[in-house]
Amino acid sequence: MTAPTATVTDRVLSLDPTELPAYVYDLAALREHAASVRAALPANVELYYAAKANPEPEVLAALGPYTDGYEVSSGGELAHVAKAVPGRPLAFGGPGKTPAELAEALGRGVSRFHVESLHDLAVLGTLSAGLAPGARVPVLLRFNLPLANASLAGSSLTMGGRPTPFGLDPADADTAVRLLVDGRYPHLELRGVHAHLASGLEAPDLLAAAESVVTWSAGLAARHRFRLAEVNVGGGMNVDYTAPGSRFDWTAYGAGLARLTAAHPGLTVRIEPGRALTAYCGWYATEVLDVKDSHGETFAVVRGGTHHLRTPATKGHDQPCSVLPVETWPHPWPRPSAGRPLVNLTGQLCTPKDLLARRVPAPGLRAGDRVAFALAGAYAWNISHHDFLMYPRPTFHFLGGHD
Ligand SMILES: Cc1ncc(COP(=O)(O)O)c(C=O)c1O
Repeated sequence: MTAPTATVTDRVLSLDPTELPAYVYDLAALREHAASVRAALPANVELYYAAKANPEPEVLAALGPYTDGYEVSSGGELAHVAKAVPGRPLAFGGPGKTPAELAEALGRGVSRFHVESLHDLAVLGTLSAGLAPGARVPVLLRFNLPLANASLAGSSLTMGGRPTPFGLDPADADTAVRLLVDGRYPHLELRGVHAHLASGLEAPDLLAAAESVVTWSAGLAARHRFRLAEVNVGGGMNVDYTAPGSRFDWTAYGAGLARLTAAHPGLTVRIEPGRALTAYCGWYATEVLDVKDSHGETFAVVRGGTHHLRTPATKGHDQPCSVLPVETWPHPWPRPSAGRPLVNLTGQLCTPKDLLARRVPAPGLRAGDRVAFALAGAYAWNISHHDFLMYPRPTFHFLGGHD
């Protein structure tokens, strides 16, 4: 069980059933967490937030004081983030950029282009030819490099070191760098390398990956005699859904990055976490609609489901949660309740995959009780298939805002 803070609990219990399900975001907790992450990082490490984890404008704005910029991975994200946090540096990546998106990004003057293939480079280079004389387009080449810890290469969120559509193959490195340093595209300025290799790693593995990316990049720069100004080592800091009270070891990671940058004077290292910044601030809250036994197990069906919170389905985990008992039962019919100590929490969808959490210790759970699912602040609402079965959308609540 994972208890929400008093502020979140009060809000969840104060909502009318018609306002459920609800996404409740604790922006004060988000700011506090982001401040501690920033404090753990050395000054010469830049922190960009990967907006794909949660692009709610209130979340983007709350992160503003603690971040150096935002990473966006589509034209849609680019326009949305530019509007939500105007004037902030944006790094634009993604494996399938259209010419229209690249032209839009050039027009907006984004601060970094993450180039993911020779074709991507050719389109960007050609489109940039129309820029005003002297205009500079800062480029990082994204590479699909081997992970330092080869045993991680098979995990489902691994994007590097195995065949994937992400980034350039190292075999294309010399060609790509030559095109940039030989002046083929005079407006493009090669600033360095980008490599987001995996998500869900703990600090030692993520540090080993960062070290190997920087070492490889330094070798590439030395071979082609270009100045390696920066390396973006990506995001991917683990969020442990089985231990919602624990946090990625930012102190150890920051100390490791300090050692890494000390070994490469003048190099700016950038990171772009998503999940580990925002997961903790979000709660998906709802109420139990029905409780029943089926073939020896107890099921509680809640209002909503994985069409709002797809995370447990995509990651195959049990979403940590907490029961908030509601004593009043306003209906004339009997109130169903759980007879067994362990309860499976499912949603309203007509699919056995609509499982939010299995075997939750919730003895006596009743219809009308509320349930708050934790760690719902990242890859939650925005990755869910909202329209399946046409259920109403949740309501959204941002607590602890400055307004
Ligand atoms: C290029 C890139 N950067 C950053 C991230 C953020 O990763 P995470 O949310 O695991 O930190 C992702 C996630 O897919 C990504 O693809």
